[in-house]
Amino acid sequence: MSAPGREWWRDAVVYQVYVRSFASSGERGGGPGIGDLPGITSRLPYLRDLGVDAVWITPFYTSPQHDHGYDVADYLDVDRLFGTLDDADDLIARAHELGLRVIVDLVPNHTSDEHAWFRAALAAGPGSPERARYLFRDGRGADGSEPPNNWRSVFGGPAWTRVPDGQWYLHLFDTTQPDLDWRNPEIGDMFEAVLRFWLDRGADGFRVDVAHGLVKEASLRDQEMPPGTEGRDPNRVREESMVARTDFDEPMWDQPETHDVYRRWHRVLADYDGDRMDVAEAWARTPEAIAAYVRPDEMQQAFNFLWLLAGWSAQEFADVVTSTFAAMDPVGASPTWVLSNHDVVRHVTRYGGGAQGLARARAATLTMLALPGSSYHYQGEELGLEQVDVAPEDRQDPSWFRTGEVGRDGCRVPVPWSGDAPPYGFGPGTLQPWIPQPLDWAGLTVQAQTGVEGSTLELYRAALAARRELPAVDAVDVRVEADVLVVERGDVTVVLNCGTTEVPLPEGELLLASGPVDAAGGVAGSLPPDTAVWLRPAGRSR
Ligand code: GLC
Repeated sequence: MSAPGREWWRDAVVYQVYVRSFASSGERGGGPGIGDLPGITSRLPYLRDLGVDAVWITPFYTSPQHDHGYDVADYLDVDRLFGTLDDADDLIARAHELGLRVIVDLVPNHTSDEHAWFRAALAAGPGSPERARYLFRDGRGADGSEPPNNWRSVFGGPAWTRVPDGQWYLHLFDTTQPDLDWRNPEIGDMFEAVLRFWLDRGADGFRVDVAHGLVKEASLRDQEMPPGTEGRDPNRVREESMVARTDFDEPMWDQPETHDVYRRWHRVLADYDGDRMDVAEAWARTPEAIAAYVRPDEMQQAFNFLWLLAGWSAQEFADVVTSTFAAMDPVGASPTWVLSNHDVVRHVTRYGGGAQGLARARAATLTMLALPGSSYHYQGEELGLEQVDVAPEDRQDPSWFRTGEVGRDGCRVPVPWSGDAPPYGFGPGTLQPWIPQPLDWAGLTVQAQTGVEGSTLELYRAALAARRELPAVDAVDVRVEADVLVVERGDVTVVLNCGTTEVPLPEGELLLASGPVDAAGGVAGSLPPDTAVWLRPAGRSR
């Protein structure tokens, strides 16, 4: 939807496809129960009709799938579960034919333990150049039987695993995801080749996994825990205080040298036409820290998780909008907005689930779609899907195996397309997909919602179409009145009621509403709780 001369990604709507859960052709290695590349290609017209600008596809590289593809064994090939390189080429070509861009997921922080480099590192032994591609160290204690430092894996347990010759290697995630040593120049060279490989195949951009993690503080010293949290898991403490605590000691995250990597990638992307882009998954703590990733010579975008982390409060939403623009403006970057992805509880459920959760989710989405910048959406949110309570025997998230906590499987349940029973058209035949779908999803399928007034799918379609008509602006006016958020974007006013009572609306033509609103003659007098509207001064059309 960008104006001429403006890079496409500045205000794109990007749809995230979780490859194993989007659609299955049934004809690739995973069979009908696992999504694949031809399945995605066959559903691209749906995404074009939904009105998105780009598709980000989670990793489909060769991988033993311990973290569902975020453990890459070969960055230059497609896992046979999902298809072949030809299938990837077909997908990119078809997307481009339909006017959709394709963003590939890049995983540079770690490889799989089945990557040729890690196998060579194990075989070559301590002190070898092969080991120097990863972070191998001797252990502490008289016999080296204690890990080299106190770091903990994001997925629970120690961040170090010992190998038979006695050394330890670092993995900030699963044991099967050894961290690369980005201080070794070989790593940067390898990833430049990976970038070029996919850019040459037509990729329009990269979503960069764990972008804040690549370079570790050289000393690999212990992490100091904030007072009162000693003995607790630092990753849980971090999650609980993501926004509040900025004094956290993090020798493994957000190190200054990491930014050199993105300066180099910026130059690589500039060799190609078509405004190619990187978007950082950087769980940095403040808007300013996030902005550092999108300085003019680094990445183009970074996910703004602060919007996703905000509670159901007009003030919290307003604060995120204000602080985001304040941080992005000085570096000339446009913001991004996101409410759900494959790592977090779906936003319908975060907002309480059921009818109220859905009403709030629709209202928050409609508000977000009016904000300048890019909007990222996770597959199935346009259907109003909730987090699924996946039975313990069906869980597959590595963090479940490491911690016994529920994990992320509940937002990864395959998309329901049609029909009355699983697999709801996800793949051919009647086989349940890799995570069983709920039995009560018949009313949520794409088929069941298409053309139905008031359905979440039709709300998304209408909102994405109306978004294209919004006035082009670089900033918005934001204010809070009681528990109501008011955003002015040019002559369009967005009102979100986070309170518990109906509130009067300013006069104006009702362009869109996230839920039922009484609007006599197209003009609404008041706004119920948990609802958002877009209004335009009456009598003005463009
Ligand atoms: C990112 C991904 C997540 C993955 C992790 C390790 O946070 O989004 O799914 O498990 O990185 O690669």
